[in-house]
Amino acid sequence: MNKIGSYTKKVIKHFQKPHNYGRMKNPDGVGKVGNPICGDVMWLYIKVEKDKKGREVIKDIKFETFGCVAAIATSSVITDLAKEKTLEEATKIDREEIVKSLGGLPPIKVHCSILAAGALAEAIYDYLSKNKRKIPKKLQEKHQQIEKEKKEIKKKYKEWIEIEEKMHKK
Ligand code: FES
Repeated sequence: MNKIGSYTKKVIKHFQKPHNYGRMKNPDGVGKVGNPICGDVMWLYIKVEKDKKGREVIKDIKFETFGCVAAIATSSVITDLAKEKTLEEATKIDREEIVKSLGGLPPIKVHCSILAAGALAEAIYDYLSKNKRKIPKKLQEKHQQIEKEKKEIKKKYKEWIEIEEKMHKK
């Protein structure tokens, strides 16, 4: 992991002008995750289509993140990394790749990158389970871990999470 003491230019750029920001109408998959360290929240939406070779690819992707500079930048950059990737390729995008593609994050902010990696995995999980498809073991394990974390976050930040969920439905 890159040991840098401030945000890179790329982080600031993504924060100031996030790519693919917003809510998606009728997404094929939705991933919602919370950060157990700070309680910040991210939603990620995907549209899946088949390419010419018949492989399922992420055709469109959007996010909403209620978090810090690093959380917004990692959310923005993961949408660039995942777009046009097959589901299998997108599942492999991890925190290291996200942080690397931003030129690094200050060590104290590396935990913020778990939102983006988790939300993408959850959106793919959601798509596969809605379509009654086989879920790869790694994705299954990630989902279980995220569910466990969600319970912990709910205990810690119950009041705010309920308000956020109500507002999100509007
Ligand atoms: S401080 Fe919460 S995601 Fe960065």
